[in-house]
Amino acid sequence: MTTDVQARIEQLRGAIRHHQYRYYILDDPLISDAEFDALFQELQALEAAHPELRTDDSPTVRVGGVVSERFAKVAHPAPILSLGNAFSEDDLRAWRERIKRLLFPEQQAQLSYVVEPKFDGLTVVLHYEQGRFVLGATRGDGEIGENITPNLRTVRPLPLQIPVEDGSGFSAPARLVVRGEAYVEKAAFEAFNRRQEEQGERTYANPRNFASGSLRQLDSSITAGRPVKLWVYQIIELEGEPNPPQTHAASLAFLQGLGLPVSPHVRHFTDSEFDALVAYLDEFGQRRSTLPYEVDGAVVKVDSLALQRQLGFVGKDPRWAIAYKYAGEEAITTLLDIVLNVGRTGVVTPNAVLEPVAISGVMVKAATLHNEDYVRDLDIRVGDKVVVKRAGEVIPKVLRPVVELRTGAEQIWQMPAACPVCGQPLVRPEGEAATYCANNACPAQLVRAVEYFVSRGAMDIESFGYKQAELFVEKGFITDLADIYTLPWNEIAQLDGYKEKRIENLRAGIEASKNRPLHRLLAALGIRYVGSVVAELLMQRYSSLDELMDASAEDLSAIDGIGPRIAESVVRYFSLEPNRALVREFADAGVRVAEERAPRPAATSLPLAGLTFVVTGALPTWSRDEAHDFIKTHGGKATGSVSSKTNYVVAGENAGSKLTKAQELGVPVLTEAELRALAEG
Ligand code: IVH
Repeated sequence: MTTDVQARIEQLRGAIRHHQYRYYILDDPLISDAEFDALFQELQALEAAHPELRTDDSPTVRVGGVVSERFAKVAHPAPILSLGNAFSEDDLRAWRERIKRLLFPEQQAQLSYVVEPKFDGLTVVLHYEQGRFVLGATRGDGEIGENITPNLRTVRPLPLQIPVEDGSGFSAPARLVVRGEAYVEKAAFEAFNRRQEEQGERTYANPRNFASGSLRQLDSSITAGRPVKLWVYQIIELEGEPNPPQTHAASLAFLQGLGLPVSPHVRHFTDSEFDALVAYLDEFGQRRSTLPYEVDGAVVKVDSLALQRQLGFVGKDPRWAIAYKYAGEEAITTLLDIVLNVGRTGVVTPNAVLEPVAISGVMVKAATLHNEDYVRDLDIRVGDKVVVKRAGEVIPKVLRPVVELRTGAEQIWQMPAACPVCGQPLVRPEGEAATYCANNACPAQLVRAVEYFVSRGAMDIESFGYKQAELFVEKGFITDLADIYTLPWNEIAQLDGYKEKRIENLRAGIEASKNRPLHRLLAALGIRYVGSVVAELLMQRYSSLDELMDASAEDLSAIDGIGPRIAESVVRYFSLEPNRALVREFADAGVRVAEERAPRPAATSLPLAGLTFVVTGALPTWSRDEAHDFIKTHGGKATGSVSSKTNYVVAGENAGSKLTKAQELGVPVLTEAELRALAEG
């Protein structure tokens, strides 16, 4: 019996490793994610039932869970060297001349180079014994690193067993130690920080710190939830291989053959092609910002391993390799001032006012400074020369001050005690990174709240936007959200630019919004953690805002998809009298605050019963709401964030962080057509 189970377990592990390889390394899966999940779940179940058959190289081990007190030290088998830098073509040509002088003429003739990206991550050293991943360490001081094996086991692209592919023609070397770079993609980093920021938690300054922080957790289940990836680029030690590679290019091919993740952006140039190499460095530099991960340069390496050995190293830098650094998407400019921006929920963000500076063709004059701690930890002062970075579509940010350029006239900044707009005290709750203006009546918050209320995702009031919100709040026409429905039209007609036609459009838009589905009104209130999906879940359970207002946190948490944090936020909101009064004002103004409807039929017999979906990106024919309706009428549940409880993600064009998260968690991804097929059999 046990031997049958054991055989099945082996078979499943083999299949899972194979499919992970197809998915993570080749980017070319052979089976659907649902089929993959089925294999994975079967293996998990068998291992749970037969703990004696568990092994620490099983694919299921990647969920993490080992807690270590501190990291043990690991002596590297050979020094883990650093790299010298070249900042210009001249530096690079000087490097070439230097190494040529150290070689005999016949060796100079054989000289050729490999160029590869310089990944901006964290060096890791990985040990395989008889094909099994047995040890992984940080670089440390180059001689001794930290043992982070349990954390590295959770890194999805890192094979726990090589060769990954049976019949690949490669066999496991007796011993292999490789060097690589662990990193996090830019989009995954931004998404993580956004979530942290929303929850008032600490953010990471850049993807590199995020990768490094994630791998240096004492609890590997935390690492397992982080989207860390890997590229390997160097063999440190190889034993028991009859035909060991003799060049760097052959080493990369060898590593790739074993199923290890090797970058596809690798080019080979002979010495006589050095001009082409220089041109390639430029071209790669131009296109590097389109890569999903950060690349801060390119590394040029002498291809022949024999010549590498002969050239050796000086200090910690090998003579046979050099990093060509790109000037990049950063610029230095003066920080003129720090101003506060008050958001809809009252979060106050320090923003940098900059002496305008061009960064990759765009004038940048403002940048985010995140929060109070960011400014303090980096010791950013008003008047400082600061390094500003602009990458892709994201908001520019101040990376650090250039301390060497200080004149002494710089001013240390402190978070003001009062809101710059309403003058009321600012508060920073214990344990949170965010500072808030606690005054619900703060005009700045009100303007943002009105802007949100009328926006497309909420009450969708046409012809109404930030400008109108600002104007009407400033004129005193709007003092709370319900005032939108009792605007003094006579007075508005006196304002510049408010001609009859314009007023008509605005009134019609406001009128039309009175009949929106109840969940839209709830979402439009801007209660913390209550976005459109949560609002829908709540209004499926309650048919009026009055009912919802009187629900307890326990009642709310009992709803599928509503956790204690959301429940408490809703209860807190409706515990405040002005918010309850607001609902009454909406009702008085004729806005729908209750729904007449028959109870929903039991959904268990429907085709999507028991399944949870997240819709993301632009679908070919449906809007987000239409897709949600479709899912619900077929018995499924639609939620807003991807977690291990999500059964499917339905993704359209330009799907972003939710799709990435789904892929990381192994949640199957469907197209709109596949969702239809699933529901309609
Ligand atoms: S080769 C002796 N290749 O850059 C060989 N390093 O600034 C030295 N790095 O500590 C390393 N991408 O962590 C090499 N393709 C690449 C790399 C790379 C990133 C890192 C590495 C090193 C740092 C030096």
